[in-house]
Amino acid sequence: MTNQHHFKRGVAAWFAIGISTLIPSFVSAENVHISTPGTSLILDATEGKALRFLYYGDAVSPNEVEAINSAHHSMEAYPVYGLSSSRETAMSVTHPDGNMTLDLVVKAVETIDLDGEKVTAIRLADKYYPFELTVNYLTRPNSEIIETWVEAQNNGKKDITLREYASAYLPIRRGNVHLSSLYGAWGNEGKLCEEALQPGMKVIKNKDGIRNSHTAHSEVMFSLDGKPQENTGRTIGAALCYSGNYCLRIDTDESDYHHFFAGINDDNSAYTLKKGETFATPPLALTYSDEGKGGVSRNFHRWARKYKIAHGEQLRKILLNSWEGVYFDINEEGMAQMMADIASMGGELFVMDDGWFGNKYPRKNDTTSLGDWTVDTTKLPHGINGLLAEAKKNGIGFGIWIEPEMANTVSELYEAHPEYIIKASNREPLKGRGGSQVVLDMSNPKVQDIVFNIVDTLMTKYPEIDYIKWDANACVMNHGSQYLSADNQSHLVVDYHKGLAKTLDRIRAKYPDVIIQACASGGGRANYGILPWFDEFWVSDNTDALQRVYMQWGTSHFFPAVAMASHISAAPNHQTHRTIPIKYRADVAMSGRLGMEIQPKNMTAEEIDFCRNAIANYKKIRPIVQQGDIYRLLSPYDGLGAASLMYVNPDKQNAVFFWWKTETFVNQHVPRITMAGLDPDKMYRVSELNRIDRSALPFEGKKFSGKYLMSNGLEIPLEHNIANRNDYASRVLLLESM
Ligand code: DGJ
Repeated sequence: MTNQHHFKRGVAAWFAIGISTLIPSFVSAENVHISTPGTSLILDATEGKALRFLYYGDAVSPNEVEAINSAHHSMEAYPVYGLSSSRETAMSVTHPDGNMTLDLVVKAVETIDLDGEKVTAIRLADKYYPFELTVNYLTRPNSEIIETWVEAQNNGKKDITLREYASAYLPIRRGNVHLSSLYGAWGNEGKLCEEALQPGMKVIKNKDGIRNSHTAHSEVMFSLDGKPQENTGRTIGAALCYSGNYCLRIDTDESDYHHFFAGINDDNSAYTLKKGETFATPPLALTYSDEGKGGVSRNFHRWARKYKIAHGEQLRKILLNSWEGVYFDINEEGMAQMMADIASMGGELFVMDDGWFGNKYPRKNDTTSLGDWTVDTTKLPHGINGLLAEAKKNGIGFGIWIEPEMANTVSELYEAHPEYIIKASNREPLKGRGGSQVVLDMSNPKVQDIVFNIVDTLMTKYPEIDYIKWDANACVMNHGSQYLSADNQSHLVVDYHKGLAKTLDRIRAKYPDVIIQACASGGGRANYGILPWFDEFWVSDNTDALQRVYMQWGTSHFFPAVAMASHISAAPNHQTHRTIPIKYRADVAMSGRLGMEIQPKNMTAEEIDFCRNAIANYKKIRPIVQQGDIYRLLSPYDGLGAASLMYVNPDKQNAVFFWWKTETFVNQHVPRITMAGLDPDKMYRVSELNRIDRSALPFEGKKFSGKYLMSNGLEIPLEHNIANRNDYASRVLLLESM
């Protein structure tokens, strides 16, 4: 698949193409069976009746569908407001005459097949009003994910207002259902939260406007058989593929069901549909596995690498990013030294972070210059070309930081175009970072052009740029668009993300190969709404290795290692001020997309040597970590003194095992870890990577069956066999089958 093709699928996606532009084949069946290799979703789509949901779970045979229809208590597949108004609903509208109800019945079922990607579109129409709703289900080859979204269409002559417009609804049978979700904060992103679902409403939401994954995440799992288990138990996963405000609701009412709704957060965002207009929601990606949370994660990861992350099936370069090394103190000599240092350690790419731009207002700190993307030639007399030449000399790639959706009020851009920022009318603009940061209004096509041009200019002038770190460090502080009409002010945050998507489509159409990182004050943009255009995300501004064990653990529930930027940083750490040995820092970073975030010239010779060796080792395990299947083994959240996970190649030939102690006490007892995901009949040779002990582990070089490793496991010493290294023990083991 060419890159262009990849982006077309991943980004424009079916929901944006609009299924009406494709030629469908009509299906007359009442029962609609949407299937992936291992799962089935069954609906009753009888013409002239409401669309009913029957079943979602393990794959069933087509012969069973009829029987399932008779056996199941059917539920509404997409509840709308008006005629059973006591219930939570997915969609509510106001018709031109003020009527606030919908009464939708099935009009047609269509299927569209394009190279194995299959959309089932169920067209519903209101019984009286000229309003149509299409409920879509997309499956892709070799994937266990079903993407579902709706398109609302105004076939009348006057405006219809969408008040609620969720992407999807799923009824989940009550029993002993537990919810796993991520909840955190800046510097503490991706924390795993697990709870039994209780009566009442659980709401997971975001209203930042720009970044949507610092606190809650728009991905969840439902464990249907009691407490969440890693490798057993029926589990449903759901990920809303959206980068803006979202709302997930789980209403546990008096019925037998938990009612799960997911979609754009419609608070203060009523959306007007003009005559003939269609509104497509972002898709909700659903998956099911009877292999517990791990099975759901592996389903998401495989789908993401193939369809939802830019270049998701390619290996990533090992990089040094300049931020924690020099912060804003960019200069030619410093950049050259960092490039030489990362190259000497075996790294493959250098990224110059914030601080390189600004002419009239040079960017010395965070108070000025966003918007003025011209090189500060005082800091960099030979410009970007000088840096590119230096990178070439060192045999590495070069990357650059930008924050294109933003401006500072102290900038030439803002001086010329104050009308481009988000601001309520008759109010002073609220300012964020540095006391002067404002957000550009991406609903405005002129702003979309500016943002496109920032990338276009850089890439045209310097086509050798390999990598872009795309940052976003502000939220929508005051609601107001200077571009949108008075009637459409409530469209702002939705149109912002539509504008961003259009701009990213243009960028990817012209620059399909450049690697782009989604950074948003750390992990503010870890979501499947943004990743189709982006290769990876910065997990967190917090690089403390111990805290990263927890954050990366949570994040791995939904996102594969290839997308999780994970960097070795300084000791003491700049965020927690904790001093962690270099081995532990490297052993944690190597479980994601390895990079460095450090000033190499401040590292000791021992640290440099260690990193050189660790980078060489990472190159050996990179295909396993970045393209393998994850098996989480011992959760840091269980408080048992250690955490452990492994990656296994799809053919189960090779695996890599990570083990990190999370606390240290004298005579503590840490569980022995049984491995997972291996072939029980294969023999695996075990060797330790990044070894610091004086003597090898007793099992070094020995061969064990997958069966033994998965039923017994290896006894990992709690300490390192060198002086003063009881704390922060960690191990990385490579398993190679013969
Ligand atoms: C916030 C990011 O998360 C950091 O990594 C760094 O790029 C700074 N912005 C630069 O201002």
